[in-house]
Amino acid sequence: MNRNATGKPRVTLLGLGDMGTALARAWLSAGYPLTVWNRTPSRAERLAGEGADVAASAAEAVAASRLVVACLLDDGSVGSALADADLRGRDLFNVTTGTPGEARARAEWARGLGARFVSGGIMAVPPMVGDPDSGGYVFYSGSREAFEEHEEALSAATGAVFVGADAGLADLHDVALLSAMNGMFSGIAHAFALVRNEEVSLGEFAPLLSGWLTAMAGAVHTGAERLESGDHTTGVVSNLAMQVRGARTMLRTAEEQGVSTELLEPYADLMERRVAQGHGDEDNAGLVELLTASRP
Ligand SMILES: NC(=O)c1ccc[n+]([C@@H]2O[C@H](COP(=O)([O-])OP(=O)(O)OC[C@H]3O[C@@H](n4cnc5c(N)ncnc54)[C@H](OP(=O)(O)O)[C@@H]3O)[C@@H](O)[C@H]2O)c1
Repeated sequence: MNRNATGKPRVTLLGLGDMGTALARAWLSAGYPLTVWNRTPSRAERLAGEGADVAASAAEAVAASRLVVACLLDDGSVGSALADADLRGRDLFNVTTGTPGEARARAEWARGLGARFVSGGIMAVPPMVGDPDSGGYVFYSGSREAFEEHEEALSAATGAVFVGADAGLADLHDVALLSAMNGMFSGIAHAFALVRNEEVSLGEFAPLLSGWLTAMAGAVHTGAERLESGDHTTGVVSNLAMQVRGARTMLRTAEEQGVSTELLEPYADLMERRVAQGHGDEDNAGLVELLTASRP
């Protein structure tokens, strides 16, 4: 059955790990007929009781629907899972996390096998999937026609944001946001390391830290404006020369507290280099120029 009584199209989902299972449950709750496949069959059995049709192989699952979503461990597992599948006439949405290069190569591969291809980058954790108020969504890029055809079904599981025809763009957006998140996490780890052995209540410190990070998040927007205009000096509030002095105080404080400086040093070094090049009157956005300086 390719459509159910409500006219909703069938979805095929390959991969029932934590994320795949959350996606499966979201489509089932939204009333979509669903065919699932997982390498380890026991994980699919749980969903059979919830209304999913379980395919015996990935090839059988692919044959069941035009819309095929792969949510597997990595790009290699997508290749091996689909090795025997007939992708002709299928729309393959690969929401497995990967690099932009892997997505572009996978798009070529899928097109060569007769499928339309869209790559996805999931900006959610499993409990956010299927909850329209969670703020979770998926970046998609690749075939716009395939995205538009399936947007309603995709959006039944999570928000869907299309970022371009280049299949690598979804993964690029995904990894850019995750990279910024890791920067934030590294700062949080350092801040807790500084205070945890003192008479500081971490429960009382936490809202101070969270509030400060939220207040500083506006740097994202000023950074984008500066990089687009190329103007790094007009209206600078906290210039790099001052920030370098601040960074040295941060390093000395870490040493006083017996905390490793390994998370702070790379960023402090970058600021020092930019100031040494005569850019002490800029703010942080100019550091992007250093990071991309060796790009061809
Ligand atoms: N979980 C999250 O919070 C989260 C958030 C955003 C994005 N994602 C992304 O979503 C994707 C899936 O994540 P997950 O949390 O569901 O991972 P997971 O729980 O580790 O599940 C991995 C899935 O990949 C399958 N798999 C692994 N190697 C395979 C192979 N060689 N051939 C076929 N299937 C293979 C596993 O099958 P078996 O059951 O047989 O092992 C399982 O279905 C990843 O790319 C992840 O980065 C996850």
